[in-house]
Amino acid sequence: MEITIITQAFPYFCAVNEPVKLVILVSGKGSNARNLVSYFKKNQHVIVCGIVSSKQNPALESYCAENQLFYEECYPWNEARILPVLDKTGIDVVVLAGFLKKISSEFIASFPNRMINIHPSLLPKYGGAGMYGQRVHEAVFSNKESNTGITIHLVNEHYDEGEILVQHACAVDPNDTPTTIESKVHQLEHRFFPKAVEQYCLSLKR
Ligand code: GRF
Repeated sequence: MEITIITQAFPYFCAVNEPVKLVILVSGKGSNARNLVSYFKKNQHVIVCGIVSSKQNPALESYCAENQLFYEECYPWNEARILPVLDKTGIDVVVLAGFLKKISSEFIASFPNRMINIHPSLLPKYGGAGMYGQRVHEAVFSNKESNTGITIHLVNEHYDEGEILVQHACAVDPNDTPTTIESKVHQLEHRFFPKAVEQYCLSLKR
């Protein structure tokens, strides 16, 4: 199943000849972030400038150095330290790829309709405060859902309630466990997240 709604209401446009500049925020291993970096490597219209991690992640730091990206580690998390970095770099769009820290209203106001999140369920199911990572897949398993999936959406001030850009679903089979569900969902993320980010970024260019 695929549901696509690309918003029509853009208050912000990027010049048609300029690439849209992304930063990726992560709290986990960063497999989605690496996948995005490799997807956009030769893209003329969208470039990944850097990765910000709210956890210590030496492997990701080396990866960024190898790929000429800036890497900012912010542990413990301190938004006030990161905002000026994004400002200085001229970031257009913020991509949250497994980022688990609270995003303040000020941060959201700095990137209105320009912050994209991926959530590992078919929102509005299994969303909201406290619903992240393995907890989502445990709940899907306990409730014997017949399907689950991913939601890529814009970020607003309410957890997981921003405008949905696209959703992709996968079946949950009787012999699935929370771990196998997580792996199916991760595969969907890797397959569909870059394309959705690209499509949204291109829609910002005028
Ligand atoms: C993803 O499943 C994401 O949806 C969730 O955290 C996971 C991050 O995985 N919120 P990774 O760090 O990109 O490997």
